[in-house]
Amino acid sequence: MTTMTVELGERSYPISVEANLLSQASLLSPYIEKKRVVVVSNQTVADLYADKLGTILGQVKYDLILMPDGEQYKNLQTFEQVIGELLTLGAGRDTILIALGGGVVGDLTGYVAASFQRGIPFIQIPTTLLAQVDSSVGGKTAVNHPLGKNMIGAFYQPKAVVIDTTTLSTLPDREFAAGMAEVIKYGIIYDLAFFEWLEQNKQKLMDKDPDALAYAISRSCEIKAEIVALDERESGIRALLNLGHTFGHAIEAEQGYGNWLHGEAVAAGMILAAKASEAKEWLEASETRRIVDLLSVFELPLDKPEGMGFTAFMKHMRHDKKVAAGQIRFILPQGLGKAVVTSDLSESLLTELLN
Ligand code: NAD
Ligand code: GLY
Repeated sequence: MTTMTVELGERSYPISVEANLLSQASLLSPYIEKKRVVVVSNQTVADLYADKLGTILGQVKYDLILMPDGEQYKNLQTFEQVIGELLTLGAGRDTILIALGGGVVGDLTGYVAASFQRGIPFIQIPTTLLAQVDSSVGGKTAVNHPLGKNMIGAFYQPKAVVIDTTTLSTLPDREFAAGMAEVIKYGIIYDLAFFEWLEQNKQKLMDKDPDALAYAISRSCEIKAEIVALDERESGIRALLNLGHTFGHAIEAEQGYGNWLHGEAVAAGMILAAKASEAKEWLEASETRRIVDLLSVFELPLDKPEGMGFTAFMKHMRHDKKVAAGQIRFILPQGLGKAVVTSDLSESLLTELLN
């Protein structure tokens, strides 16, 4: 088992990565001792994995709350539903929540945990690639508002992240590809050697080779843990994790939540960011090509949605959480393996890029 730690003083927590971790008896015992356990999931994931919880929880009794499946349900209505069910169950401050599912379940459960009776502990058991390499680590919890993605939320760290790579065997290919977009992101913003490793191992990853997958997940978590430890609340370096997200969140909101997967929108957004960098001579055309080639292996979208232009992007990007002093801030690569935050994108460049 590979174990990493997100170093945040007394709020530090482990990330464990291994195949078949859900079959590891009593792995969660240290966290759930003397606690009432409530698992939050959705029907899709519960049908596949809820029976394994008995093993990992060491036969401790638990309640299960099911939320509807889909990005369009990561909202205040579902938040209220889950809180209502917790109250009906009589849950209190002695309760620990376990998020079993993808990023939607994880983000919403985390925000419920941050808010329920002013905060109860929670554990992340991510079951999509995207959640395993990104959303389960770092404590960003949120729900969407019709006017913007993740507009309501809190920084609230889990007590542990348990990644069973075997769960990816049931994940639809489109969801797997969306997760690969976030994996590739780490290479572009932070680690040229990892980007090169991804180029060399793309076929193994496509074939879901267990060792290649375990390495890609562990390295992604390691990079994220390092960045979060340096800047938990995103006042500096953590913003780099949003490469492609300023454009991507606009695509998700404009297309209707759930129509473009988050990772797909990020892939198209990263290419827009690369093209902007190229226009500023921060990236060679050959480097943009390498990004496009790697994303295309996983059949990710390589362009913005047809018909979505400057005006539609700007409508959403003005609400972006990275807007500071009225300026939209973008993450742009500066060569491969390095990125910067900048507001210095002229309207004419944006118009050319987005129209
Ligand atoms: P998701 O949670 O919607 O899961 C995708 C689909 O796969 C769902 O239908 C789900 O039920 C199903 N599924 C989950 N695990 C499965 C499995 N093992 N086998 C078969 N089906 C399975 O989507 P996602 O891509 O995991 O997460 C996207 C969300 O994560 C977005 O809301 C995004 O904003 C958020 N996110 C958050 C952060 C963060 O730092 N908190 C980072 C990145 C993304
Ligand atoms: N996914 C971006 C972050 O966690 O900061």
